[in-house]
Amino acid sequence: MTEYDNVTVEQHGTTAVITINRPKALNALNSATLDDLAEALMEASTFDDLRALIITGAGAKAFVAGADISEMSGMTCIEAEDFALQGQEVFNGIENFPTPVIAAVNGFALGGGTELAMACDLILCSSNAVFGQPEVKLGVIPGFGGTQRLARLVGAMRAREIIFTGRNVPAAEAVQIGLALKVLPEGDSVLDAALALAGKIARVGPVAVRLAKRAINENADAALPTALAAERTLFAMCMSTEDQTEGMDAFLNKRKADFRGC
Ligand code: CAA
Repeated sequence: MTEYDNVTVEQHGTTAVITINRPKALNALNSATLDDLAEALMEASTFDDLRALIITGAGAKAFVAGADISEMSGMTCIEAEDFALQGQEVFNGIENFPTPVIAAVNGFALGGGTELAMACDLILCSSNAVFGQPEVKLGVIPGFGGTQRLARLVGAMRAREIIFTGRNVPAAEAVQIGLALKVLPEGDSVLDAALALAGKIARVGPVAVRLAKRAINENADAALPTALAAERTLFAMCMSTEDQTEGMDAFLNKRKADFRGC
């Protein structure tokens, strides 16, 4: 395990786990923590045979309670723009991380916490998870992608209502509106559930999973003909991989595939 000041990163088999570890501020993201997160992502991307990444928060109370309000309170306009850019760049790095990224949301995920989860590919949450974009209650707007990613996930009108009121979105509602994939029964560990999901992903063709993530994420805002052309190229690229030869041979010979990720 590597311990940065406010973030840890460790490898569990083919899964990396990054934990935001700043419990005294409910894992709020100040700029030092965003720097740590960027370094942890870089480190995780070098792990051998990596198939998935999980991001979670330390403790049972919070995933991330937002961007750090103490730090933001004294910022000038220029400093605030730089801070928003820093957060957006780190979250873009999560969105573009080569493997699937699972958010294991273990409590409050407000403001920057919801924004962090939304930059991940899949969101699992504990029964006490609470999402929301409460920035307007502080006299500001979401700055780490919330005005854009929330609308893309749940639709523009629902996103407007959540952002304009700043209200909390409990776990069950988050699943109902498509903001989260699944809420776990009370008492179940969201990290264990995320590790189990990562394990399922690890059993299929690793290169295909990475290319599927690229096909989905890189073309999310493209016109359909452009996106379909990109899909065709990535599909064709699969045919140059050993994983494709192995996967199809295993099917045809009624045996289990042994994927090597190449
Ligand atoms: N920034 C800095 N410190 C925070 C914080 C945040 N976002 N959230 C919580 N903390 C700190 C509290 O100040 C408190 O510190 P002290 O013990 O030193 O007083 C500690 O964490 C524990 O918090 P509470 O005592 O408030 O705990 P609670 O159980 O009563 O409430 C909570 C929990 C509802 C999550 C509440 O802490 C809260 O509302 N936090 C702020 C949530 C928020 O507004 N997030 C959005 C931030 S703005 C943003 O994210 C902008 C952006 O998009 C870039």
